[in-house]
Amino acid sequence: MSHQSWAEPFKIKMVEPLRMTTRAEREAAIAEAGFNTFLLRSTDVYIDLLTDSGTGAMSDRQWAGLMLGDESYAGSVNYYHLEDAVREYFGYKHVIPTHQGRGAEHLLSQVCINPGDMVPGNMYFTTTKFHQQLAGGQFVDVIVDEAHDPENEYPFKGNVDPEKLQAVIDEHGSGRIAYLSLETNVNMAGGQPCSMANIRCVSQLCHEQGIPVYLDATRAVENCYFIKQREPGYADRSLREILLEMCDFTDGCTVSGKKDCLVNIGGFLAVNDDKLAAQARNLCVAFEGLHTYGGLAGRDLEAMAIGLVESLDENHMRARIGQVHYLGQKLIDAGIPIVKPIGGHGVFINAERFLPHIPREHFPAQALTAALYVDSGVRTMERGAVSVGRDPKTGENIYPNLELVRLTIPQRVYTQAHMDVVAESVSAVHLQRDSISGLRFTYEPELLRFFQARFESVIEKRVPTRSPETALSSSSSEK
Ligand code: F0G
Repeated sequence: MSHQSWAEPFKIKMVEPLRMTTRAEREAAIAEAGFNTFLLRSTDVYIDLLTDSGTGAMSDRQWAGLMLGDESYAGSVNYYHLEDAVREYFGYKHVIPTHQGRGAEHLLSQVCINPGDMVPGNMYFTTTKFHQQLAGGQFVDVIVDEAHDPENEYPFKGNVDPEKLQAVIDEHGSGRIAYLSLETNVNMAGGQPCSMANIRCVSQLCHEQGIPVYLDATRAVENCYFIKQREPGYADRSLREILLEMCDFTDGCTVSGKKDCLVNIGGFLAVNDDKLAAQARNLCVAFEGLHTYGGLAGRDLEAMAIGLVESLDENHMRARIGQVHYLGQKLIDAGIPIVKPIGGHGVFINAERFLPHIPREHFPAQALTAALYVDSGVRTMERGAVSVGRDPKTGENIYPNLELVRLTIPQRVYTQAHMDVVAESVSAVHLQRDSISGLRFTYEPELLRFFQARFESVIEKRVPTRSPETALSSSSSEK
């Protein structure tokens, strides 16, 4: 076997046909969806890069695991398989399954946050911040400055800045800090990792002052892969060893199993503290389901226990990140402004630079997601001002430094040829970028607005048209 290639360590046993659409159909579909890719029907999408969440392909072993689902209400054998796997690979003592990641965030936030508490974290994630605020906490961003600069090639842009963290502790007092919310492979920064040295350092800083540290370990294995690649001393360590070491510095984690654990639904909360676990189990019963199923079927628990182990396979993770980097490098070569270094779960286009003629208040990233969809049926997601929302105090829109379009690669789903189609489409839209216009809200939901918001063009409809030279060579989605 070649050790240079990232070629996938699997072959394909079952296929799911994709529907090709015409440009006219896509123009109608995006208008009907209010220029929000979340509101498109999946049957109108050709290559779906909206998210890697729950969209991965399960292995034959996971599918076989579904048949071993023990659907007893209480004490299902599949729960114990998951508990064993989390204990073995993450090293935490108590495991509480939840229907997905935000269920675990809800439990952790309700148990650990008192109204008025501060919750420092390395950049916000939408649902994480939402649950922290719902519990009366206030999120404070303590990520390193490099993370806010799409061009900065710092290898660990997910790191916490210890000085920013200490400043928050000094200002509010350690008693008012609920916990450090430490995300691995920071999603909103572009899938950027934390170094082990940083996790060690900030965990020590917190623990010395009596502050717990909870990981968002949703993409922890991708983070481990980057540590192995980039951090001195880790090249010969296995992903398993790196994950255990990382978790060992912390007090517990929330996980959305829909990413690295390779399942379509599921999540869990894992903690070491007995009292906290008991409280979280009580809330789990009220909000998710009995503490041995947490809103999941027994078969879902089994698939997650198996996927968790598969995610730690070295060849699997090399292929996963290799594919993302293949697409990212193609875009860099085509002169597309993307977040660097290329991240773990997707490629993030810098929409502010891609569409400099659209002012921030007309949401260039949102407009670019719509233009890409119209061009080729590729569905992407806005990760900029629309996702951030408004300042809860002033009600004003927040404009983060990062105004991004995320091309998120589901795990084990698409081929290299699909990545080529995506790169061709992004380049084609780039050539026509001047014809793309900005958007304004026609409907703005109060909570997590990006999911269901609707928009209209700020000027009369001017969608880009492709010249024959720039059209996809095979017009693959124009059948
Ligand atoms: N934490 C991170 C870092 C996430 O990326 C997500 C979900 C969650 C928590 C919440 O998990 O969806 O299972 O409730 N991210 C998805 C995404 C939605 O598209 O990035 P969930």
